[in-house]
Amino acid sequence: MGRIQLKQVKKSFGDVTVIPPLDLEINDGEFVVFVGPSGCGKSTLLRLIAGLEDMTDGKIEIDGQDATSLPPAKRKLAMVFQSYALYPHMTVRKNIAFPMRMAGMDQAEQDKRIASAAKALNLTDYLDRRPGQLSGGQRQRVAIGRAIVREPEAFLFDEPLSNLDAALRVGMRMEISELHKKLATTMVYVTHDQVEAMTMADKIVVLQAGVIEQVGSPLELYRAPRNKFVAGFIGSPKMNLIEGAEATKHNAQTIGIRPEHVEVSTTDGLWQGTVGVAEHLGSDTFIHVHGVPGCDPMTVRVGGEIPVTHGDTVFLTPNLQHLHRFDAEGLRLA
Ligand SMILES: Nc1ncnc2c1ncn2[C@@H]1O[C@H](COP(=O)(O)OP(=O)(O)OP(=O)(O)O)[C@@H](O)[C@H]1O
Ligand SMILES: [Mg+2]
Repeated sequence: MGRIQLKQVKKSFGDVTVIPPLDLEINDGEFVVFVGPSGCGKSTLLRLIAGLEDMTDGKIEIDGQDATSLPPAKRKLAMVFQSYALYPHMTVRKNIAFPMRMAGMDQAEQDKRIASAAKALNLTDYLDRRPGQLSGGQRQRVAIGRAIVREPEAFLFDEPLSNLDAALRVGMRMEISELHKKLATTMVYVTHDQVEAMTMADKIVVLQAGVIEQVGSPLELYRAPRNKFVAGFIGSPKMNLIEGAEATKHNAQTIGIRPEHVEVSTTDGLWQGTVGVAEHLGSDTFIHVHGVPGCDPMTVRVGGEIPVTHGDTVFLTPNLQHLHRFDAEGLRLA
């Protein structure tokens, strides 16, 4: 069981409060992702859950038990960091075994758990190598293996893939998702990466300056962001936010339309503009258009290739079914 409840959890460093009192519920078996700008408190929150940081106020319950004053080792949680922190002089087998050796577990049980973790992580053939003889992705898998053998109630990941190159990241993302399906253990995962958040999470927690802006499934956040901050943060390229007369027409302070919900034409449309930059990715084209009133530039995403270039005149029409409306406080209007 790995149910984690944060009740009015607060964290200050000296006079500076980085997390004002916050409530959060993480259900057993859930994959929860924390996202938010740099410095918003993602790592701090994870470290509070792990017990690596003392809370200023509030309470953390794990499986209904008060864990607030439990030391990290007693919380039955396993943390995996961005830097894998493996012991370079030990083999993969010894690295994975390390927490079990420290706990004085009997050898047969250790061997059993190492074999099972190695199998789950495709490391069986690498058990006798040292970290220096492994790729970045393999090293990160060893770090995860060391967490798995502890059979934790929950895994806590702090940007575990950000040291890997793009291709490896995609591979490891799938592997961690599959591991979650296989183990069905609670995972709390911090990332900067939009795609990781959208594809891995059951539930995304969007943070800004230590405050939870919204909690929801990836598609809930995509379809109905509860304020302008979440609207701009979830989705890539970002949602276009439009102020002024265009918004007033829709009885809103600000309207929002995602790049994939704007149609482009070279002959007619609601808004006229001039192409600033056209990014041709092959699979998609991102066009940044100047001259749309209240939104400069407006970004448009077109599937596939479209032959537009800097300086071209284009006409844009939003799909009104996908229009978002926000009030003067930046809150979503129904
Ligand atoms: N030991 C500390 N002493 C003082 N301030 C700290 C300490 N640790 C973190 N902070 C501050 O707390 C805030 C939150 O930091 P945290 O590391 O949790 O951010 P983050 O969301 O993980 O950022 P990033 O995405 O850059 O990793 C930051 O403003 C940071 O400067
Ligand atoms: Mg961090």
